Amino acid sequence: MNRICAALDVGDPAAAERLASRLLGHVGLFKVGLELFVAHGRAAVEAVRRFGQPIFLDLKLHDIPQTVEGAARGAASLGVDYVTVHASGGAEMIRAARRALPRTKLLAVTALTSLGPDDLDAVGLSRDVVSRLAKLAMGAGADGIVCSPQEVAALRAALGPGPLLVVPGIRPAGAGSGDQRRTGTPAEAVRAGANILVIGRPLRDAPDPAAAADAIAREIASLP
Ligand code: C5P
Repeated sequence: MNRICAALDVGDPAAAERLASRLLGHVGLFKVGLELFVAHGRAAVEAVRRFGQPIFLDLKLHDIPQTVEGAARGAASLGVDYVTVHASGGAEMIRAARRALPRTKLLAVTALTSLGPDDLDAVGLSRDVVSRLAKLAMGAGADGIVCSPQEVAALRAALGPGPLLVVPGIRPAGAGSGDQRRTGTPAEAVRAGANILVIGRPLRDAPDPAAAADAIAREIASLP
């Protein structure tokens, strides 16, 4: 299985289709995120669906349980394969999303990969927030966890082989980090136990996105 999930972080469905058509056959999943979904909603998902790949709808839901359950029902009606919630919404919120999405892989975001140690301190989050939130989310029925490459090994050791570990903040050697702070290479993430690598700008902004995806796939495949 190709474990690269291409984040289609573009402004409209036509641009998403153009990027997806360049990446088709070179990645395993397509992600529709907030930029595309807030502006275009269902049309954005439909534009991506025609490629026949699993769709990851990255809503990062975070609200009271009743509101999240309603929003998750809407996501269920879109027929997507993966949906995200913020684990910090708490166990009852995650259970509410789970009820509304019985057939969808429910992923819980721990701490955004754009937060470095100083940012975590500034918002009052302790260093062990990722493992605490991961355990809470798995206990509340999530299928997996979104974490940075730097936490994969510890979470895999703590949670065992079952949970999906979905990892953004991926930067091939030499790539700019942009706004991401807790980053790692594709090889580092997979060696530590990642199941899915979420990759946006290193593919979207490459002169040849398919070649960039193939290079990442080769880097992963060459691991012992
Ligand atoms: O361009 P880049 O590879 O940094 O894109 C990462 C993607 O992963 C973005 O679409 C972003 O919304 C998403 N993401 C993230 N950090 C999380 C969860 C999702 O960067 N914790």
